[in-house]
Amino acid sequence: MKLKIGVLCALLIISLATLPHTSLIFAQDAAPFRAELTVRADRPKGVINRNIYGQFAEHLGRLIYGGLWVGEDSPIPNTRGLRNDVVAALKELHIPVLRWPGGCFSDEYHWRDGIGPRDKRPRRPNASWGGVDTNAFGTHEFMDLCEMLGAEPYINGNLGSGTPQEMMEWVEYMTSDSDSTLARLRRQNGRDKPWKVPYFAVGNESWGCGGEMRPEYYADEYRRYATFIKDYSGNHIQKLAVGPHDDYYNWTEVLMSQAARQMQGLSLHYYTLPTGDWARKGSATQFGEGEWHATLVRTLRIEEFIAKHSAIMDKYDPQKRVGLMVDEWGTWYDPEPGKDMGALYQQNTLRDAVVAGLNLNIFNNHSDRVKMANIAQMVNVLQAMVLTDKDKMVLTPTYYVFRMYKVHQGATLIPVELSAPDYGMGQASIPSLNASASRDQDGKLHLSIVNLDPNRSAEITTRVTGSTVRSITGEVLTAPLMNAMNTFEHPNAIRPTQFSSYKIQDSQVTLSIPPKSVVVLELQ
Ligand code: AHR
Repeated sequence: MKLKIGVLCALLIISLATLPHTSLIFAQDAAPFRAELTVRADRPKGVINRNIYGQFAEHLGRLIYGGLWVGEDSPIPNTRGLRNDVVAALKELHIPVLRWPGGCFSDEYHWRDGIGPRDKRPRRPNASWGGVDTNAFGTHEFMDLCEMLGAEPYINGNLGSGTPQEMMEWVEYMTSDSDSTLARLRRQNGRDKPWKVPYFAVGNESWGCGGEMRPEYYADEYRRYATFIKDYSGNHIQKLAVGPHDDYYNWTEVLMSQAARQMQGLSLHYYTLPTGDWARKGSATQFGEGEWHATLVRTLRIEEFIAKHSAIMDKYDPQKRVGLMVDEWGTWYDPEPGKDMGALYQQNTLRDAVVAGLNLNIFNNHSDRVKMANIAQMVNVLQAMVLTDKDKMVLTPTYYVFRMYKVHQGATLIPVELSAPDYGMGQASIPSLNASASRDQDGKLHLSIVNLDPNRSAEITTRVTGSTVRSITGEVLTAPLMNAMNTFEHPNAIRPTQFSSYKIQDSQVTLSIPPKSVVVLELQ
């Protein structure tokens, strides 16, 4: 009998654990876990490059067309064709740098298609993602967007199907203040002063969609193309080379040994797939605790990739002159039911917020080598900040994480030491907490903490060395359900709220961090 009851209980637990949204069931009575955190305010490190908070916008799905660009004649309120609501929301994130036009699309993009009168621009098939590109959004529109957002442009050049001459002339068109034919053409097209272009990449994923190249071949091509990317009229370009994908360590080895001298950055792309299987990635919204856990396990692997690629880079560049640019990262799920496969439109839940918090903490903590990161992608595609449907817009949980974390941009990294129990499921265990800290230029100390455990809150005894904490302010992003999301019908279902669950007693700080949450605090 006892055995039967035991078996029944086990079956019940297994079936609950595989149901979606079981965190609610478990969360009710779970006792908090204890943890210790030391914030080493007396041991400041280097500066967190603000470009870690960068974004990526590709000609794909409804990102550019509909998400950002609606055209000057649209009934959707816009400024010079760019929709006002989306631009206003994005401005709040203080986006430092914006990557465009791809992605895979950059190796099929010919910049001359996207300049001059819009009604004369050619319509081209978007070979990477489907549909026809009207080219209504081109260089001038992108630069206008960057100026509206206050973001620096990061242009990804076409190595795969373009020529060094085409790349060279694009740079001249954008940045030359001379009387050359191309500078005159830019003026004729409405832009008198040249733009500054601080970042330019030579190709994208050249080991895959960018041309299926071997690292040795790409290294030679990179050096050839990079030679013709010139600095005009006081502009100074940092040149970025295509880097590895996940664990292609040989690629990094070859690029660093053969082309490090010609580059300022090496890119790295890493996507979080809940299942790790490209054929069946997992749903954006329908998942149980097993998939929650697996997603976080896979996200945390980025730390290993950064560490391993950094170790290779250290051999050739011990001064850390070349940045590791994580210029595509984020979650990638199965297409939303009823949505076009190639559009990569996906919903965004509290799980994505946790993924974002983890990645940003990891980038902060590796900011000696990680000099830029660009989440994929800004609007309506993959792990987006903003979703739009005609004239409607919603802000995603990921958006709020970027808004909360902007305090770390350009601040000085403060090391943290965490001692917390593991959050385990099946064979895999991961730390239940993750954190990073920084001190900004006004001396304010900020701490961001992610609680990965969807069931238990954390009671964290916190010590700040070299500073006395008298009060704490901040925000917390959480919700009762793991898959809490904002929809067009309920756009405010999940938003950050004020954080107040802390105690300070005789200079001892105790933070109470809810299950499945992202918290950013100012320690005063
Ligand atoms: O972000 C979507 C695609 O993912 C990009 O175009 C490509 O670079 C990567 O494979």
